[in-house]
Amino acid sequence: MQIRKAVIPAAGLGTRFLPVTMSVPKELLPIVDRPLLQYVIAEAAEAGVEEVIIVTSPGKESIADYFQPHPTIEQRLTANGEDDLLAKVTEAGNLAKVSFVIQHEALGLGHAVLMAKNAVGDEPFVVILPDDIIAHSPGAISQMVQVSEKMDAGVIAVEELPWEVVHNYGVVDADPVSEGVHKIMRLVEKPQREEAPSNLTIVGRYILPPQIFQCLENTKPGAKGEIQLTDGLLALLQDHDLFAFEFAGTRYDGGTPMGLLRASLAFALDREDTSEDAIALLREFQNRTG
Ligand code: G1P
Repeated sequence: MQIRKAVIPAAGLGTRFLPVTMSVPKELLPIVDRPLLQYVIAEAAEAGVEEVIIVTSPGKESIADYFQPHPTIEQRLTANGEDDLLAKVTEAGNLAKVSFVIQHEALGLGHAVLMAKNAVGDEPFVVILPDDIIAHSPGAISQMVQVSEKMDAGVIAVEELPWEVVHNYGVVDADPVSEGVHKIMRLVEKPQREEAPSNLTIVGRYILPPQIFQCLENTKPGAKGEIQLTDGLLALLQDHDLFAFEFAGTRYDGGTPMGLLRASLAFALDREDTSEDAIALLREFQNRTG
């Protein structure tokens, strides 16, 4: 079955980006010139997703504004014949149909995903965490859709990370089945290093069956006192196979200021219209640091 819908949790407070997140949602912070959210929606659209459900919280209305038409700017750019800029202005709205649901209480990632239950309905869907930016063509979601079709099951993106950092992530206990694909036996959210079953850490891309919603409804608060998506997935494992997939591509942590800076530099270096300036900039700073 085709994956037509994506759920993007974007309800967090963005504390790691304070003070800017007092008035700008983290998800609208830019990599070069487009907000984080736009990169992940483009990745979903490339994989065939037609409808994106963004879970936000009160006070983050500017996310919805971003996806509205902007007739005043559009008219001015049309009148001035600035077609390139006009294309940029209409790009976000043309990627997919975007709708919003509100999470009124910050009860955790699993709870945020549960808010999208009615909007998703009875079909498989993809969850995308916009903190995780993945650069690759084809995109990570396209790659995962292929694995999901082949295995006829849910798929979770993972990457191997140094053992010293596994306590910051969800971690899977999984048996290899083919190149980059592992059958998940167990999942743990933010385990202590000694308790981590592996160093295969969850990256924010999940293709899931709709039965995850019932599991989340029955999930009790776990790590950090929050309803964790990882705990819902552990319950889902009782009746459904899940596979971990080591995607091709580089993951950037858009959830921290330095991670976002790293992503911005990497994307600027790769883009034809900015690469020369980005190289010059790096040279300038290299001289400065000796
Ligand atoms: C969330 C998930 C975690 C996953 C991570 C990936 O954690 O709960 O399992 O490894 O995203 O970015 P968070 O970063 O919201 O603490």
